[in-house]
Amino acid sequence: MSIQDFKRAAAEAALAHVEPGMKLGLGTGSTAAIFVELLGQKVEQGLDVVGVPTSEATRELAERFGVPLTTMKDEPELDLTIDGADEVDPQLRLIKGGGGALLREKIVACASKRMIVIADESKRVERLGKFPLPIEVVPFGKESTLRAIAKLALRLGLEGEVVLRRSEDGCPVVTDSGHVILDGHFHRIDDPEGLAAALVSLPGVVEHGLFLGLASLAIIAGENGVSTIEP
Ligand code: 5RP
Repeated sequence: MSIQDFKRAAAEAALAHVEPGMKLGLGTGSTAAIFVELLGQKVEQGLDVVGVPTSEATRELAERFGVPLTTMKDEPELDLTIDGADEVDPQLRLIKGGGGALLREKIVACASKRMIVIADESKRVERLGKFPLPIEVVPFGKESTLRAIAKLALRLGLEGEVVLRRSEDGCPVVTDSGHVILDGHFHRIDDPEGLAAALVSLPGVVEHGLFLGLASLAIIAGENGVSTIEP
């Protein structure tokens, strides 16, 4: 079986948690995209749900697959968010934002009663940090913010560099909310809570990809089938 099959297996298992009438947060990324596609099939069969997309890409997908959409303005409280992750540790702490949607993903997850993470086995880690930590910052002064984050990381004993995320054409990646992304290549994050608290205290930092205490369940699929992590 391939990674793609594992992603699909996790997305399928998550569908069992969706109940009629639910207001759903729809995640971003390739695993969340499979979930949106499967959800669209259920909607076609008569399932009555409504979703808030966490990115413009997911909005387009949901529209293509016929998933009815709403907005945070109309539905500020959601029942369940289903989203992928870049890393999941045994305490169900996550790194997210590989797809650049971390800000909306976090807002939607925080507005949801429950968040279920769907992922293939490669996302399961003992310690967060091998995947570069995405940090969304305002474009104004991004060079200074980058330096401030690098200094902060050094103070916290984190080694590695912080780099501005660029697209293939060399231009900075701009998020759906008009910000840019810095990736912190820290390799190992021993104290995610300490780093999270320090990052949000820096001017210019809008949000970071550490999702701590937000997920209520992770559904992980791999060679040995589907397993779960709960806090
Ligand atoms: C997007 C995300 C994604 O959920 C994360 O990058 C995982 O994506 P994929 O399912 O494609 O591996 O956080 O901002």
